[in-house]
Amino acid sequence: MSSQARKNPVSINTLNRMKARGSKFAALTAYDALFAELISSAGVDVLLVGDSLGMVLQGHDSTLPVTLDDMVYHMRCVRRGNQGALIMADLPFMSYASESQSLESAAELMRAGAHMVKLEGGAWLGESTRLLAERGIPVCAHMGLTPQSINRIGGYRVQGRDPSQAHAMVEEATILQDSGASVILLECVPVELGQEITERLEVPVIGIGAGPHTDGQIMVMHDMLGVTPTGIRVPKFVKNFLPESTDGLRGAFEVYAEAVKSGAFPAPEHCFT
Ligand code: KIV
Repeated sequence: MSSQARKNPVSINTLNRMKARGSKFAALTAYDALFAELISSAGVDVLLVGDSLGMVLQGHDSTLPVTLDDMVYHMRCVRRGNQGALIMADLPFMSYASESQSLESAAELMRAGAHMVKLEGGAWLGESTRLLAERGIPVCAHMGLTPQSINRIGGYRVQGRDPSQAHAMVEEATILQDSGASVILLECVPVELGQEITERLEVPVIGIGAGPHTDGQIMVMHDMLGVTPTGIRVPKFVKNFLPESTDGLRGAFEVYAEAVKSGAFPAPEHCFT
């Protein structure tokens, strides 16, 4: 689909149907109304109001300083521009440290227009995921490299290379699905692990640096336009799509969406083995 209004807005049912028939879906971060409009009307199915805004908009060197108020502000902006994509919003660092806090923080993002909230972690999120899902709030569980835990992980590096760590990740993804997670997002894991989790789970799996087999792909918008801030290393899984565009920024978003849907992206050079 290119530069047209969608007939039907994307919902979690759309993503489930795409997984069932083996059609890939494309996701990108968006932080304001104008880019939300350009990206969603270029055929990108999912917009993520990501806490990566702390790094690409606010100039921090991690996502930790981002507040819930920041997320609500950007969520409202994105909702105004969105043309029918499903909007996912990040719960920022320490806004879901307890189950009751998860409910309150997620409710704020849903009132601001989110269709789904994203939390970073593993099986420990099971109870919060269940409480949110039971109350009508769809959850995306972000696993693998979880940037809010960067100080504990010790650096931006591939997760799940060790067989026992990979096995634990498969188990934890299953626990989160069984707790009610609607989507799993995998960041920076080997191709084989991305494939195994995607094949085992019934819910859609979105990958970033998780190989070509996940049901969807996501990237930070600035990275796919080749404008990563100075001082931040460009990860291996990033591709700049702007040079392939014949229609500026809008064209770059269309090329990205088409490359994901056709399976041309990610190529082997964007993957970890
Ligand atoms: O905040 C963000 O942009 C993200 C992506 C890296 C998936 O979580």
